[in-house]
Amino acid sequence: MPMFEDLKVFTGNSHPDLARDICSYLGLSLGACEVFKFSNDESFARIRENIREKDVFLVQSVGRPVNDSLMELLIMIDAARRASAGRITTVIPYYPYGRTDKKDQPRVAITARLVADFISVAGADRVLTMNLHAGQIQGFFNIPLDELTAIPLLAQQFSHLKDKDLVVAATDVGAAKRARYMADHLDSPIAIIDKQRLGNEDRVRAANVIGDVEGKTALIVDDEINTGGTVVAAAQALDQHGASEIYCSAVHPILSDKASEALADSNLVSTVVTDTLPLPPEKRFDGLKVVSVAGLLGEAIHRIHSGLSVGAMFNY
Ligand code: R5P
Repeated sequence: MPMFEDLKVFTGNSHPDLARDICSYLGLSLGACEVFKFSNDESFARIRENIREKDVFLVQSVGRPVNDSLMELLIMIDAARRASAGRITTVIPYYPYGRTDKKDQPRVAITARLVADFISVAGADRVLTMNLHAGQIQGFFNIPLDELTAIPLLAQQFSHLKDKDLVVAATDVGAAKRARYMADHLDSPIAIIDKQRLGNEDRVRAANVIGDVEGKTALIVDDEINTGGTVVAAAQALDQHGASEIYCSAVHPILSDKASEALADSNLVSTVVTDTLPLPPEKRFDGLKVVSVAGLLGEAIHRIHSGLSVGAMFNY
């Protein structure tokens, strides 16, 4: 028995294609709302249909322009709350500011927590998100949060490598658990790249590889690709340590600056990412494949609305 009479899905401007695909999965039309910027650069949102006591899902992946996308989401939450929505679930396929989840140098903010506070204070009742940079960000919220994972979906894309003496490579020590999860889906061992970040700029150095990659097919797995520095350095390190072929997978394709060129020019055979963020044609390149998470998000929305287990989607 559904907890709320009607399910309504709305989106801002960050990734309407994904919101539409989620609605197709659910067999719904996207809810009517207008979200735009005034000439003074301030954002505005108005929900254009009755949502009194409805089960409202606001889909907004917080990608570039990050601060505008975030502000749109907050304003939409406030609009939905003041329109007497029965329950408001924010659907955030890419959670922003997640890389700063602790005070790892003096006098810095913990922005992942700050964003969580914004979302809660604006009036969200729940959060549905995907592959957070670090699982502990879940605890920054005091409202229910469901974190989905796209790793099994990505693993399916590489099932043909199972017979090729495969090793899954984590891009740093902190990513070992994610690599283990991917490796479990592909029945393979893991290796770990010893990555160092150089200062606060987006520069990385990958020196050593922990684990045996000599003569093996390597599959790099990461949560996101931003500048591409991490995966390109990882691919070089794996090559230097004797990997025969190197593939790459990541959930969130931020692909800033010249990331697409860097990946296209690298020694990676192919790269598979998801559509948690929009990928305009100029960021696509030969060897890049995009798999959709719309079905996963749509199924989770259906389950949240109907009071069914979300964990059961991943055999928990
Ligand atoms: C870092 O800890 C993340 O897991 C990614 O490895 C990182 O955000 C990728 O950034 P870039 O592509 O700029 O190296």
